[in-house]
Amino acid sequence: MQEENGKKRETRLFRVSDENFDSILDEAAEIIRKGGTVAFPTETVYGLGADGLNPDAVLKIFEAKERPPGNPLSILVQSEEDIRKVAKNIPEKAYRLMDAFWPGPLTIVLEKNDIVPEITSGNLPSIGLRMPDHRIPLELVKRAGTPLAAPSANLSGKPSPSLAIHVLADLMGRIDAVIDGGGTAIGLESTVVDMTVEPPVVLRLGAVGVDELEKVIGKVRPTYTGAETKAGEAMPEKQAGQKYSHYTPDTMVVLVEGEREEKVSEMIGILLQDYLSKGQKVGLLLSDETAGIFTAKGLSASECFLLGPRKEPEEAAKRLFEGLRALDAKGLDVILADGSFSLSGLGAALLNRLREAASVRHVV
Ligand code: TXA
Ligand code: MG
Repeated sequence: MQEENGKKRETRLFRVSDENFDSILDEAAEIIRKGGTVAFPTETVYGLGADGLNPDAVLKIFEAKERPPGNPLSILVQSEEDIRKVAKNIPEKAYRLMDAFWPGPLTIVLEKNDIVPEITSGNLPSIGLRMPDHRIPLELVKRAGTPLAAPSANLSGKPSPSLAIHVLADLMGRIDAVIDGGGTAIGLESTVVDMTVEPPVVLRLGAVGVDELEKVIGKVRPTYTGAETKAGEAMPEKQAGQKYSHYTPDTMVVLVEGEREEKVSEMIGILLQDYLSKGQKVGLLLSDETAGIFTAKGLSASECFLLGPRKEPEEAAKRLFEGLRALDAKGLDVILADGSFSLSGLGAALLNRLREAASVRHVV
């Protein structure tokens, strides 16, 4: 399968500017209409788009990404008309979410219409819909005249791309085009909420937090990795669409988290010295503050990637996948990750992604 798809296509690279926006979007829309695949930035991560209503086009997404069949793709829409075309029996609460958060980083799972092929929905009776807050995908959906099936533009098992070079690293020769629109503003994938069940279930945490959802639609049930559960309550079972494991780097990731920031930094220092004394190659994924302490103590690792200040999880979210990709490519024995970031704003989603990447977790 991989041989067949690998290096089969010529991948065109479009660099968007204000001057060429119009002509590039026309060309990209033409590729989509003809059943091809185009990667593009959104405000969350880069997506890989194809005509969501054309099963042959959607198959190309699965092949290019080596995505397991049955893992449903989300669909990007740009108008009320698109929404009504692909979804039915839309609950009133879902409309409230659309009003509050669209265009934006929220994917809403709804009952699907028959027009959506089974391959797109992974044979589920539902689909995930999102109206992105970015002019490139909005314009592409409009000009192509069809909702786009658009998962993240990475190979399955790799982190989502926050830069066009990440897309090229994974998918060059496998897709028809990449639109380079610079770094993505958020850097983590959207929040996914399933509105086909009551209470609604949060399948993935992104920039829209659980509190924000609950302000608009009342009680929801979070089921993502590390979601808060009340004492004595079992961790909720995995839902459809969550069966597939998220990204874990090839290199072992050890995450250190805890309420006291200094304790977290101290523990990372202890682990670092321990691994180094065993002759292991260690990569560090750190807040600026933890890195500052190490520099002062004269500790150094083989490789270090800085995520920014603890109080700015937005900045860290933007850099996280780049950092994981960079460190994972270095042939290290272990990556020590700093979980001392503030949990406000994007901090909770950041910690969730760190927990998913980690195979060992220390809570200090
Ligand atoms: O921010 C994002 O959502 C990015 C950008 C490109 O829009 N897209 C993205 O797509 O992350 P993807 O396919 O990598 O993740 C979509 C998530 C997956 O976890 C998928 O399993 C879930 O949404 N999903 C999609 N349709 C679903 C459905 N019908 N039921 C349950 N989960 C669904
Ligand atoms: Mg993905």
